[in-house]
Amino acid sequence: MKRNVARIILALASTLVVAPAFADLALASSRNCMSCHNLDRKIVGPSLKDIAAKYKGDKTAPARLASKIMEGGGGAWGVVKMPANPQVSEAEAKKLAAWVLSL
Ligand code: HEC
Repeated sequence: MKRNVARIILALASTLVVAPAFADLALASSRNCMSCHNLDRKIVGPSLKDIAAKYKGDKTAPARLASKIMEGGGGAWGVVKMPANPQVSEAEAKKLAAWVLSL
């Protein structure tokens, strides 16, 4: 069931256009993050700027978000879960979490 939902989301996501490239945005795009996330508006996942705002000043956020980027999960924003992103290394996940939080 969980897998099917993830597959449907991925199928939807793959039809969406990838955002223009900046340095870390290019990494996010190349790791497929921008299929579900946009800087300013919600697509399948929350907007990256909304994520940054939600965790502003939260010192545990970088580590928690880095794990969630790798492992996926839900419950923070709504009923749709983020699938695991096994294409992302731990170093990349940390970099991406720091970048998202800096937006
Ligand atoms: C298939 C769609 C999809 C892809 C691909 C995806 N995400 Fe997500 N992401 C989501 C959804 C849906 C949520 C909301 C999950 C929740 O409610 O906890 C989310 C949540 C997040 C959050 C916030 C987590 C929280 O607990 O608040 C971060 C950070 C994030 N994604 C980063 C990334 C990064 C970086 C990538 C690329 C490696 C990525 N996402 C790829 C769908 C996706």
